[in-house]
Amino acid sequence: MRRAPALLLLPLLASLSAVATGTPTTPPAVPTPAQAEQLQRGETTYVLACAICHGDRLEGVSAPELGGAAFRALYRTLPPRALHDLIRDTMPYDRRGTLSAQEVLDVTAYLLRENDLPRPEGALGAETLDHVPPTP
Ligand code: HEC
Repeated sequence: MRRAPALLLLPLLASLSAVATGTPTTPPAVPTPAQAEQLQRGETTYVLACAICHGDRLEGVSAPELGGAAFRALYRTLPPRALHDLIRDTMPYDRRGTLSAQEVLDVTAYLLRENDLPRPEGALGAETLDHVPPTP
């Protein structure tokens, strides 16, 4: 994603999510406190453990991008578990198994939100990993 002044970006993001949503299961734009905390933690985990290979803005460096049309097309039909289990079992690529269960949940929630992928209401937890996305 290109850098843009924050004031220009806000309405753009709002209109983008308006286009991408339109389904009743899409969470409200304002996250719950628990969700906001999870997204903060997820971003921190991403920066510390993932960005070196996947890029500061998910754009991909030595590893594939974690955004973009192909990534979204793949994951928008799958429950959060798909991304979650892949990360839990194979990432970070050079240090797999080093994230806590909570860190895996947090970074999954962060990637779902950054890509505006279907996700359950509130913070992502073990009990909501099988949230079924709405039929496109
Ligand atoms: C040392 C570099 C490295 C680090 C650090 C790393 N990854 Fe990866 N990641 C890769 C590589 C390489 C692939 C492609 C693996 C393959 O195709 O088999 C990949 C693939 C992925 C995929 C699959 C992408 C797709 O298109 O389906 C996801 C999701 C992912 N990584 C998430 C993460 C997350 C989250 C972290 C941080 C917790 C992380 N990675 C840290 C190197 C890395």
